[in-house]
Amino acid sequence: MHRAVYPGSFDPVTNGHLDVIERASRLYDEVIVAIAHNEAKAGLFSFDERVALLKEAVEHHPNVRVTQFDGLLVNYALEVNARVIIRGLRAVSDFEYEFQMALMNRKLVGEVETMFLMPKEEYSYVSSRLVKEIARLGGNIESFVPDCIVRALREKFSKNNPRLTP
Ligand code: PNS
Repeated sequence: MHRAVYPGSFDPVTNGHLDVIERASRLYDEVIVAIAHNEAKAGLFSFDERVALLKEAVEHHPNVRVTQFDGLLVNYALEVNARVIIRGLRAVSDFEYEFQMALMNRKLVGEVETMFLMPKEEYSYVSSRLVKEIARLGGNIESFVPDCIVRALREKFSKNNPRLTP
């Protein structure tokens, strides 16, 4: 069984993340999408909301599982018996941070390798941060995120700002 972990904040999941998940699901027997608990980095969505939304977004992939984890990613990878960490690389600007993290993780646990997958070019400029900002300001995010996230973001921001209710 070749199992890979795809970690991230996923606040919220975008079409770029889903493209990476789809590619990984073709390469590995099982892909565990793992939402990192980071109390220092409060997100827009709670961890439970992110899990529920991600599950909905990947429900058509039978070999993809969604979980959350605490602590070091490499320890979580060992715990679930995965020897591969998947990360997406959108552009050169991602490289420095990803390279540092991959080498640090390899130093911590040598037998866990990081594999980089490139999402479709049309997603190279999509990020959760920009999607949230556009949604908050009432812009159209339909080509950047799955339908469940469009609905969830509308709901979040319409609560704060009734003017943005569609
Ligand atoms: O989607 P993100 O925010 O770019 O994901 C970053 C993430 C969650 C992969 C990274 O912060 C992480 O691995 N966190 C778990 C804690 C950990 O292992 N830190 C050491 C990394 S070298």
